[in-house]
Amino acid sequence: MDAGIELSGVEFVVQGKTILHGVSLSLTARRVGIIGRNGSGKTTLLRLIAGLVAPTSGTLRVAGRDPARERQAMLAEIGILFQNPEHQIIFPTVEEELTFGLHQMGRADEAAARVQAMLAAEGRAHWAGAPVSALSQGQKQWLCLMAVLLMAPRRLLLDEPFAALDLPTQARLRRRLADLPQQIITISHDPEAVADCDRVIWIEAGTVAMEGAPEAVLPAFRAEMTRLGEADADTDLPR
Ligand SMILES: Nc1ncnc2c1ncn2[C@@H]1O[C@H](COP(=O)(O)OP(=O)(O)O)[C@@H](O)[C@H]1O
Ligand SMILES: [Mg+2]
Repeated sequence: MDAGIELSGVEFVVQGKTILHGVSLSLTARRVGIIGRNGSGKTTLLRLIAGLVAPTSGTLRVAGRDPARERQAMLAEIGILFQNPEHQIIFPTVEEELTFGLHQMGRADEAAARVQAMLAAEGRAHWAGAPVSALSQGQKQWLCLMAVLLMAPRRLLLDEPFAALDLPTQARLRRRLADLPQQIITISHDPEAVADCDRVIWIEAGTVAMEGAPEAVLPAFRAEMTRLGEADADTDLPR
C-alpha cells in the first residue's frame, strides 16, 4: 500500500548551518498543515520532501521511495506550488507552460488535447496563447496549479499558497483545493491557512515543536507568536 511521506531523523545542514535537526514525521492525513514563523525551516522541509535536496542524514521516503534519487517517479507522486509563481514558471505562454509537465512525463502525444480540455473546463480557453507576463499574481498561481494538476500527482505540496492573493482569490483557491482528491500539505506562517487541516505540525527552529489537531496546535502557536511579538523579538533574522 501507499506508505505516504515518512521522515526519520532527518537532518539538513547547509553552509555549516543546521537547518533541520533530526525531524521525524509521518504525513498521512488527507489535509496536513505545516506551520511556523519565518525562518523556521518550512520551505527547506518542502524542498526535501520534493527531492530537490537530499537530507544530510536520516531517511525520507515518499510512497516508499527516496525522492532525491527518484525524481522521475516523483512526478506522479508529488506536485509542488512554490511560494512565488515567478520562480516556477519557465515558458513565455500559458499553453507552453501547461504542456511542459506532460512532456516531462513522456506523454507529449496527449499533451495538447489535455491542456485545451483543462483550460476549457476552467473557463479559461482564451488564455492558451496568452503571454504569462500578462497575468496577475493570482492568475500566475492559478496557472501553476493547473500545470501541477495536469500531471495528476497523488499529493500536493503548497508553500504559502495564500500569501500573495487578495481575499476573493484566496476564497476561490480554497474552494478549488477543498474539492481535490489529492493529499494536500500546506505550509504557512499563518494559522488561518491551515485551520481546516486534519493535522497540523508546528516547526520551530528546525524541530517539531508540536503536532496534533488544529484545535490543539493553533491556539498554542498563536499564544507563542503573541508572546514573541510582545517581546519585540526580531523573528525574521537568523541568529
Ligand atoms: N541555501 C541556504 N543557505 C543558507 N541558509 C539557508 C538556505 N536555505 C535556507 N536557509 C536558512 O534556513 C532557515 C530556514 O529557511 P526556510 O526553510 O526558508 O524557512 P521558512 O520557509 O520557514 O521561512 C533560515 O534561517 C534560512 O536563512
Ligand atoms: Mg518559506
